Amino acid sequence: NRAHLTIDPHFVVGPVNRRLFGSFVEHLGRCVYDGIYEPGHPSADDEGYRTDVIELVRELGVSTIRYPGGNFVSGYRWEDGVGPRDQRPRRLDLAWHSTETNQVGLDEFASWLRKVGSELMYAVNLGTRGVQEALDVLEYANIRSGTVLSDRRIANGTPEPHDIRMWCLGNEMDGPWQLGHGTAEEYGRLASKTARAMRQIDPELELVACGSSSAHMPTFGQWERVVLEETYDDVDYISCHAYYEPKGGDYGSFLASAVDMDRFIDSVVATADHVKAVRGSEKTMYISFDEWNVWYLSRYDEVDRITDIHDWPVAPRLLEDVYSVVDAVVFGNLLISLIRHADRVTSASLAQLVNVIAPIMTEPGGPAWRQTTYYPFSVTSALARGETLELRLDCPTYRTELYGDVPIVDAVATHDRETGDTAVFLVNRSLDDEVEVEIDTSILGDVSVRSFRTLHDQDIHAANTRDQPERVGLTEHRTTGTSEGTVTVTLPPVSWSALTLA
Ligand code: AHR
Repeated sequence: NRAHLTIDPHFVVGPVNRRLFGSFVEHLGRCVYDGIYEPGHPSADDEGYRTDVIELVRELGVSTIRYPGGNFVSGYRWEDGVGPRDQRPRRLDLAWHSTETNQVGLDEFASWLRKVGSELMYAVNLGTRGVQEALDVLEYANIRSGTVLSDRRIANGTPEPHDIRMWCLGNEMDGPWQLGHGTAEEYGRLASKTARAMRQIDPELELVACGSSSAHMPTFGQWERVVLEETYDDVDYISCHAYYEPKGGDYGSFLASAVDMDRFIDSVVATADHVKAVRGSEKTMYISFDEWNVWYLSRYDEVDRITDIHDWPVAPRLLEDVYSVVDAVVFGNLLISLIRHADRVTSASLAQLVNVIAPIMTEPGGPAWRQTTYYPFSVTSALARGETLELRLDCPTYRTELYGDVPIVDAVATHDRETGDTAVFLVNRSLDDEVEVEIDTSILGDVSVRSFRTLHDQDIHAANTRDQPERVGLTEHRTTGTSEGTVTVTLPPVSWSALTLA
C-alpha cells in the first residue's frame, strides 16, 4: 500500500489553540479520591496531592481542565466543597451511585491546578439548580473581595480570586440519564438566562452551551439548532461529546472512529452556521469538544454499574478501562480529527485524566503509570504548534461496516511560522498491511527529519498494567528516507506516528 501526502504551509486551516489539549476531572470513581488526592500516599504533598501524579500530568501537557463533572455536576452543590473540611457534608452522588465526601472542592482543585500548571474550566449545575447558584459560585470564585461570598473564599484560605475564564452551562442536558434533563427549548432558555446573568458580573467570561452527548442521540441536530436559537448571542461555544469502543469485534470500523468525529464536527458547524445565517449574525460559534475518548461503556453497563439502594461506596473502581495499542491508535486519530478542525474546534477535553477512562492510572499507596493513550496525547500536545495546514492526502480506502469506504491513512500537519518547525501526525488504520507514505515537502525548502516516533505492537491488544507499566511505548522508527523534497515513511499496521521536520 502506498499513500501520498503534500504539505504546503500557504494553505492554513487555523491556529492550533492550546486549549485543544485540555482534559477533564470529574468526581467519579477514583479520579479525584485515590487519584489526584491521596493524603496517606508516600508521594503526597502537604495538601494531600500525589506528586507522582502531578509530575505525570505536567508531562502529559494538559492545558485546560474541566471540573467537577460530568454527570456528577447535575446534582452537585458547590458550597458543600468549600470551608472547613470537617464540616463538609457527605452526600449521595446519584450520577455514579456513590458517596461524595466533599473533601476536595473548588479551592482545593484550583490549588492542585496551580501545581500542574493548567487552567480551570468550571461546570455549573443546571440539572437540579439554576441562575442563582451559578451566580453564587461565580461570585465566590472570581470576585476579589468585599461581598459575602468573595469574603468567604478569603476566610477559607484563598485570598486571590480564581479568575475562571471558561464556564460550562451544565452537562449533557440532552441525555435522559442526566438529572434535570429536559427539552432543548427548556435547556436553551435556562442556559440563556444563566449566561446573561453571569455576564452581568463579568461580560468577558467564555461560556459553553451543552450540545449533544453523542452524534447518535435521537435529538442530535435538532438539539443544537434549538439550543443555539435560544443562546446564540449569549454563549461562545457549543459542546460536543463522543466516545468510541469496538462493537462485536468490528475493529475495522473502530479504527475509523475519527471519520465519525469528523462528520460530527462538520454537522455541528453546519447547524451553528445555519442559526448564524438565519439570525443575520456576525458572530461565529466555536466548538468545545469537552468530552472525547475511547470508552468501553458497554463494560460499565454490564459490570461496573452500582444500583443497590444500600450501596453508596466512596470512590469505587468505576470506568477503569485498560487501554490497548489499538485503543491508543484510535485515540491518536481522534486528536488528529480535533486538530484538523482547528478553525472551529478551539477547546477540547480528553475525558478523563486519572483512573477513570484515563491516560494515568494509580494504585492506592502504590505506583502511578502511563496507559497507552498517554503517548499520543503527550507527543501531540508537545509538537502541535502554530497552525493546522490543509493537506492533500491520496491513499487507498477500505470498507467499514459503520462508515462505508474510508481512507486507510489519516493525517494532520501543523506548522510554526516562527520556528519553521512542521509536525505531521499519521495513523495507519489497516489491520494487516503496512503503508508507505511519500510526503512531498518540497515547498518547505531544505528540511530534514528531526524525529519519527511510532506507537505500534505485534499484539494490538497489548497494554500497560501495574505489573507491566512499560509494556507499550513509543519507538523511534526505522524506515525514513529523504530525497529531493520528499520524505518517505513506512507506517506499520494499526499504528500512530508523529514526524517532525525542521
Ligand atoms: O466521562 C464520563 C461521563 O460521560 C460523564 O460524566 C458524562 O458527561 C458522559 O456521559
